[in-house]
Amino acid sequence: MMDHAAERSGYVAPVELAALDPSRMPRHVAVVMDGNGRWAQRRGLPRTDGHAAGEEALLDTVWGAVDAGVRWLTVYAFSTENWKRPVDEVRYLMGFNERLLMRRRDELHARNVRVQFLGRRDWRVPRRVLRRMDEAVDLTRHNTGMVLSMAFNYGGRAELVDAVKALVASGIPASKVNEKAIRSHLYDPAMPDPELVVRTSGELRTSNFLMWQAAYSELVFTDVLWPDFRRGDLYAAIAEFQQRNRRFGGLDDPDVR
Ligand code: IPE
Ligand code: IPE
Ligand code: MG
Repeated sequence: MMDHAAERSGYVAPVELAALDPSRMPRHVAVVMDGNGRWAQRRGLPRTDGHAAGEEALLDTVWGAVDAGVRWLTVYAFSTENWKRPVDEVRYLMGFNERLLMRRRDELHARNVRVQFLGRRDWRVPRRVLRRMDEAVDLTRHNTGMVLSMAFNYGGRAELVDAVKALVASGIPASKVNEKAIRSHLYDPAMPDPELVVRTSGELRTSNFLMWQAAYSELVFTDVLWPDFRRGDLYAAIAEFQQRNRRFGGLDDPDVR
């Protein structure tokens, strides 16, 4: 039987790293890892098995990004809206992310990846999970390779609310509020904007991901469900990005055309 994903529009065939233009590699790629539940449901499995199967997709994507020379990879692991899910699924996701960090932090460290988290450390995140997050951050703090940002209990609107709160608390006069001031209060002010945002599973929206930072990102959507996603799918998204003409509101450079 033909792979279901291949039958749907929006499916992009995997691409080899060698087919990419190294001079046009995005510095920062962000990924909305979506479709775990549907992946599991299609197999008659509980949704949580889909989350578990997403671990391999994540690691293959991380190593694929490292090998491609991507400097920043940001993945959407849990949104501020995901608390609306059934309590058992939320509990599973908390424990899953905690175990994933324990299982994978040493290999990430060995490959010089710096791990950080974007999101709210509020009372809903179990203390145990926060501890594992801190451990992974501390372990990899001085690494100089790719930065893996895990957006966890992350919402783009929440990030802007938190930035505005910090700005107001700093006592800045209204006349001094500008884009630079807001940016300097985002969760990681040093993080460059993603040139490319990828979303799996055929959903055509950003779901509150990196609202500020993705204002001018190229968006690539694929029908591949997250647990099936591999580095070749990342490279396919980058290949599509490399075909795009980024204008930022201006006009094409006639010399480039
Ligand atoms: C993405 O997969 C994982 C999280 C949002 C945590 P989903 O769980 O959203 O899977 P679908 O979209 O229901 O298939
Ligand atoms: C976005 O996926 C959040 C993550 C991937 C963590 P969702 O599955 O939660 O998004 P919606 O509800 O389809 O917009
Ligand atoms: Mg989803």
